Amino acid sequence: MSAPASRNHSEHAALFSQLGERSAAPTIARLMAMALETPGMLSLAAGFTDNATLPVDFVDDAWRAMRANAAAANNEFFQYGTNQGRPALRRMLAERIVRADRLETEPDALEPCVFMTNGSQQALYLAMQVLCDPGDVVLVDRPSYFVFLEMLRGLGIEARSLPVDANHRIDAPALGRLLDALAAQGKRVKAVYFVSYFCNPSARSLDEAEKNSIATTLAARGLFVPVIEDAAYRELYFEKEWPARSVFALPAWEAFPKLYTATLTKPFATGLKVGYGICASEDWRKKMLHVKGHHDFGSANFNQAVLEHAIATGNYEKQLARLRPAYHAKMRALHDALAEAGLRGRGWKWDEPSGGLYLWLEAPRGLDTGMESAFCRACVEAGVLYVPGDLCFGDAPDRKFIRLSFGVLGAPDLREAARRFASVAARF
Ligand SMILES: Cc1ncc(COP(=O)(O)O)c(C=O)c1O
Repeated sequence: MSAPASRNHSEHAALFSQLGERSAAPTIARLMAMALETPGMLSLAAGFTDNATLPVDFVDDAWRAMRANAAAANNEFFQYGTNQGRPALRRMLAERIVRADRLETEPDALEPCVFMTNGSQQALYLAMQVLCDPGDVVLVDRPSYFVFLEMLRGLGIEARSLPVDANHRIDAPALGRLLDALAAQGKRVKAVYFVSYFCNPSARSLDEAEKNSIATTLAARGLFVPVIEDAAYRELYFEKEWPARSVFALPAWEAFPKLYTATLTKPFATGLKVGYGICASEDWRKKMLHVKGHHDFGSANFNQAVLEHAIATGNYEKQLARLRPAYHAKMRALHDALAEAGLRGRGWKWDEPSGGLYLWLEAPRGLDTGMESAFCRACVEAGVLYVPGDLCFGDAPDRKFIRLSFGVLGAPDLREAARRFASVAARF
């Protein structure tokens, strides 16, 4: 008997929790359904990675090595792992951040602070679950990662944007005024979150002065709230790494509880879904691990073992060396096709990114690009899909932005998608 699609008539309605009642279908699922339902649709919406460069060979290498050692290892990689994750993998990740941030800490000392998760998405969820109650406020970058914003809504948490100036840089005086206004309204700021390297969606990176200005503005008000720095795209630069160090290395953040989240999905294989958090605040980390124990008591041990092998052998670095020029070329294909189609002349603006998976376009004045807009519908009819930028704002959504992902499609499809997009833009 096939499972019924919905409750049958004799079945009583379940009574849901407040969280269950608040839950709503993720917008990305709607966008993906649209892409699948429309034959020939070219999707610039989903933040998926490039199928052609996925590391089949390096996963094969890892599997062969694991298999050769299987008897000696008592097939341990097919067994449950620990809640916190594989120690050797955690140590290598500690070593990577020590190097990237030029930390004085020894990797061995940092290893206990690293915990493996089911994608970095789970680390973000754990962080919010243990810190916030419904009605609490979390400060987010403007624009910010829309899946995180939807998660906040699902948990009943209020997102408030970190103010930015006309150049999209953090506006510390405006942040000070926002914090004072929130205090006057009796609102409780519980945490601050930002995507600081090749941001999803804006492709912008924060410099150290911007990160520091957030810390000093909070500290001046005694608000030593936890900070979550999401570094999902840090390793996905095209030519040069972004020079700013993370909050772990910046003295302005020293007195704040800090969580750094990053992932091995985007830089290696999204399907392995292995991410991690690094949190030196023992009480916060322990609570996240307790809740992780409730979620799953450990992320997939086999996938972690594959990544452990890939990092230890240098294959992970080789994969990055393969991906960086590939994404650079794809970005150029989309960027150049949009520019050559005369979009800038029609008042569209965007910066050329130096890493990540996205172009962030600002539409000409007065053009609404929202999900229900005539422009969005016309794009779907023309066979091209984008993420409406208004989804990416914690508050006061701006309806003139568009996120285009060059992660999935190959260069010819990117050029065709740009042509379709530009042909719609020419009509508005
Ligand atoms: C900014 C950002 N953070 C976190 C994630 C979560 O990725 P994963 O769970 O694959 O590590 C994503 C995925 O798109 C992202 O764009």
